[in-house]
Amino acid sequence: MLTNFDELKKSCLECRKCKLCETRTNVVFGVGNENADIMFIGEGPGENEDLQGEPFVGRGGQLLDKMLAAIDLDRNRNIYIANIVKCRPPKNRDPEKEEQEACINWLRNQVKLINPKIIVCLGRIAASVIIKPDIKITKEHGIFFKKGHTLIMATLHPAALLRNPSQKPGAFEDFIKLRDMIKEMGL
Ligand code: URA
Repeated sequence: MLTNFDELKKSCLECRKCKLCETRTNVVFGVGNENADIMFIGEGPGENEDLQGEPFVGRGGQLLDKMLAAIDLDRNRNIYIANIVKCRPPKNRDPEKEEQEACINWLRNQVKLINPKIIVCLGRIAASVIIKPDIKITKEHGIFFKKGHTLIMATLHPAALLRNPSQKPGAFEDFIKLRDMIKEMGL
């Protein structure tokens, strides 16, 4: 556990704990306000993220930014965004178990230091790691689970919404629930 966020980032940028380090362009550590009350967690970088070193900067990221803006959230102001794995899996395949296990302590350390009150998992992979392994995202999105002092919710992954626009209203309802929870908690 590192106690300084900048040191944590510096150390993570040098990580060689799994084979993804051999094919990455950039480590995608995370973006946002490290004092935020709300944290979003995705699966892992895609091509654009690998090239730019920032999470969710492709088409899915643009959609995410719009949904965030609709509830007055902004990646550069009042949230933090990170991923389960910090390096791009080749051809955007799912991150393997060993890769997730090699990487997860970076995220654990980020969560410890940010200490968010609410975590939103973007997509099944993040939700299965953070909430429960057998989560059914199509049924259980939008539900708040309590873990310690933190509320954790899963929503559909922005890339899934681009593939399947009929799921957008459901995902938007999750964001409305998030907005209401933020209000209720006085955040
Ligand atoms: N998909 C993710 O899960 N994370 C990113 O950073 C980009 C795409």
